[in-house]
Amino acid sequence: MSAMAPPLLEVQEVSKYFGSVIALKDISMSVNAGEVMCLLGDNGAGKSTLIKIFSGVHPPSEGLFLVEGKEVRFTSPRDALNAGIATVYQDLAMIPLMSISRNFFLGSEPTIGWGPFRRFNLEFADRVTREELAKMGIQVRDTAQPVGTLSGGERQSVAIARAVYLGAKVLILDEPTAALGVKEAGVVLRYIAQARARGLGVIFITHNVHHAYPIGDRFTLLNRGRSYGTFSKSEVSREEVVGMMAGGEELEELSHELDEFAHTDRLVAARMAEASRELSADAGTMPSGPQLTAPASKVEQR
Ligand SMILES: Nc1ncnc2c1ncn2[C@@H]1O[C@H](COP(=O)(O)OP(=O)(O)O)[C@@H](O)[C@H]1O
Ligand SMILES: [Mg+2]
Repeated sequence: MSAMAPPLLEVQEVSKYFGSVIALKDISMSVNAGEVMCLLGDNGAGKSTLIKIFSGVHPPSEGLFLVEGKEVRFTSPRDALNAGIATVYQDLAMIPLMSISRNFFLGSEPTIGWGPFRRFNLEFADRVTREELAKMGIQVRDTAQPVGTLSGGERQSVAIARAVYLGAKVLILDEPTAALGVKEAGVVLRYIAQARARGLGVIFITHNVHHAYPIGDRFTLLNRGRSYGTFSKSEVSREEVVGMMAGGEELEELSHELDEFAHTDRLVAARMAEASRELSADAGTMPSGPQLTAPASKVEQR
């Protein structure tokens, strides 16, 4: 890769509005070949909206979108695929009951024979699927095995291998590790590293800094549709990224929670006060009553 090569994919000052909702405002970011760019942000930050722009699902409302230095206007996901941008969504577009090799070639089935004898080239599909998975370090016992029998991490890995085989230059992964356990997430992170080693530009979307930091080369942080900026790993520590992510959202969430506790507390206090009143009313008829009235009045003062 020459130093002069333009980024594989780049947006400049992109905004996206849904009616009066500002989903994204003035976002700039890029990804180069052989690089893992992490897009970080809490729920609702605009991560999925941004990658839907990259993958041709939404056009941007404002701003520039460039692929290898040339402005593009995608009108469908097919345009993005043709430009070498492959997106692996969290809810994978796979058919659980179909075999690994069938899923591997879903939408681009190799065929053999002509006319009425044309059929799925099973032998080719099985061989290529096995080879491509092996290149990513994945050994499958049987490519005829239904995809539904694979673990979540293995399915993600098949989707990544498939995108690489179909000629993707940019691989976009929307929260690929979100539903996975620690060990499986590690496996997926390893395949991301392999895709990078093979020269792809990877955009890795996550809200988990601990998954992003070890694998990321650069980090773009989104917060409520705005960017905190892009940082290379040498510029920020893991703690600083955690801090930026936590900054607004978590503190706000905490304050909501505290409000909620205070509210429940008041309800509990009111109920206790009522119980105390009843008790003290009862106690008033008994000789040992008065000691119950002290805590009751204390609670009532709140
Ligand atoms: N099609 C849509 N119509 C209206 N609002 C949308 C649409 N898609 C996303 N949004 C809004 O844009 C904001 C960002 O959403 P999203 O990109 O899904 O965030 P993230 O993926 O970071 O959780 C949210 O407030 C969401 O409600
Ligand atoms: Mg999302």
